[in-house]
Amino acid sequence: MESIENIQAEIKEKLSEKRYLHSVGTMKMARILAQKYNVNENIAMLTGLAHDMAKEIPLEQAMEYIKENKIDIDEIEKQNTALLHAKIGAHMSKKYGFTEQMQNAIKYHTTGNPQMDDLAKIIYVADKTEENRNYEGIEEIRQLAMQNINEATLAILDHDIEKNIKKKALIHPDGILLRNKLLS
Ligand SMILES: [Fe+2]
Ligand SMILES: [Fe+2]
Repeated sequence: MESIENIQAEIKEKLSEKRYLHSVGTMKMARILAQKYNVNENIAMLTGLAHDMAKEIPLEQAMEYIKENKIDIDEIEKQNTALLHAKIGAHMSKKYGFTEQMQNAIKYHTTGNPQMDDLAKIIYVADKTEENRNYEGIEEIRQLAMQNINEATLAILDHDIEKNIKKKALIHPDGILLRNKLLS
């Protein structure tokens, strides 16, 4: 597995300053949550750091990568191409020696997915609560994150679904399936 230092250097070079800082913030928050929920800290930090590694790839290049690597994308991802960085990033993280569990955490970090494990939930929550994030209701979600990872995941899902409804944007069914699972 690649070291945090090496991945951090590569991400600093690849991403804008803002997204680099977001990636480091997500790594830090992932570490705090990993300690809280007994997940391997190093694994959580590496995954948090790399989760947006494909976020700034231009669309044309992203589509090419998907084709070349035979990555399956669905109708909603075709229409909302901002979602593509999750699957591309998951695939790219193989070069760092990331395990399937780590790849899945990256894959599920934008839409959510009913198959998410604790690591995936930690990355999902860390992405939305890291120190550089600021939106209405974040303090409540940060508090929930330290109390119950499932409830924090649910609160973020609700927040995102509401946002998408207001924007008249598509809602990915995997997020709905995760929400139903967390509620039942
Ligand atoms: Fe992302
Ligand atoms: Fe992110």
